[in-house]
Amino acid sequence: MNPPLPKPRLLIARAVFPEVIQRLEACFEVDSNQADTVLDATQLAGRLGDKQALLSTAGDVIDEALLARCPSLRICANLAVGFGNLDLAAMSARGIVATHTPGVLTETTADFGFALLMATARRLGEGERCVREGQWTKWSVDFMAGQDIHGSTLGILGMGRIGQGVARRGAHGFGMRVIYHSRTRLSPADEAALPARFVGMDELLREADHLVLTLAHSAATHHLIDARALARMKPGATLVNIARGGVVDEAALVEALRSGGIAAAGLDVFEHEPAVHPGLLSLPNVVLTPHMASASRATRLRMAHLAADNLIGFFETGRALTPVPAPALSAPA
Ligand code: GLV
Repeated sequence: MNPPLPKPRLLIARAVFPEVIQRLEACFEVDSNQADTVLDATQLAGRLGDKQALLSTAGDVIDEALLARCPSLRICANLAVGFGNLDLAAMSARGIVATHTPGVLTETTADFGFALLMATARRLGEGERCVREGQWTKWSVDFMAGQDIHGSTLGILGMGRIGQGVARRGAHGFGMRVIYHSRTRLSPADEAALPARFVGMDELLREADHLVLTLAHSAATHHLIDARALARMKPGATLVNIARGGVVDEAALVEALRSGGIAAAGLDVFEHEPAVHPGLLSLPNVVLTPHMASASRATRLRMAHLAADNLIGFFETGRALTPVPAPALSAPA
């Protein structure tokens, strides 16, 4: 009888659920980071250098410099629907498969997008701080007066799965008129079902009372929301970003919020996470959350299992379940 083949070696870059590690240990020789330390490039290269597989998270930068030090690597399963942290061209040139976790986080993320929209437009953070800090002294007719959600115009930039989830909530739950702009237009049947109307970028910026960003970050969408774009929005508009921080020019946003160019912003993502632009931290009309849109326990568990399915499937059948689509470089989530 032949001796059993050695298991492929896997690095799990950050802490994950024990039950997921258990599944992976049946198929891989696992090096896990349950201490959850954030590994810098040198530490990552040191631990990944002899591995065939990686379970990464959105904060792990997988670039050519790292890959050059990891000659055995065959697959990187990203525990996120976004994949801006992966240099897909470098990975593809080296024959390394990249996977992500689409679908399983859509509704949870759309729920959060809507929560952030409501918190931003109705000044929830400001109100909460005011009460906690003992600043609530009397009722006044315009005290904490914000922007209405119901019956207003919801703009969605990037109409992928998550954008459609936010649109459905707005149209069906709050009677919002939905307009959108996206790289790919929905089918007429899908537009009618939401309902949502495709518009050009200019009209989206001009007409939206609330603009929610759900598009992928890429070279093409970097700082798409810049000073010019912000200047085209309504002065009473709110901007919500649950996509990636790099889509927004944060310095320009600070200026627009300070000068009354737009009314308020809700941000779950930042260009240099976990650092936040200091100008944003000092503004009252911004709701700031720590990249938590997909963070329900059930959804994070589903995401981790899907990343594990990808790794196991790849080594057992040669095919990963949810590879990053090609050419995916800017597909919406
Ligand atoms: C979260 O940001 C994700 O891409 O899954």
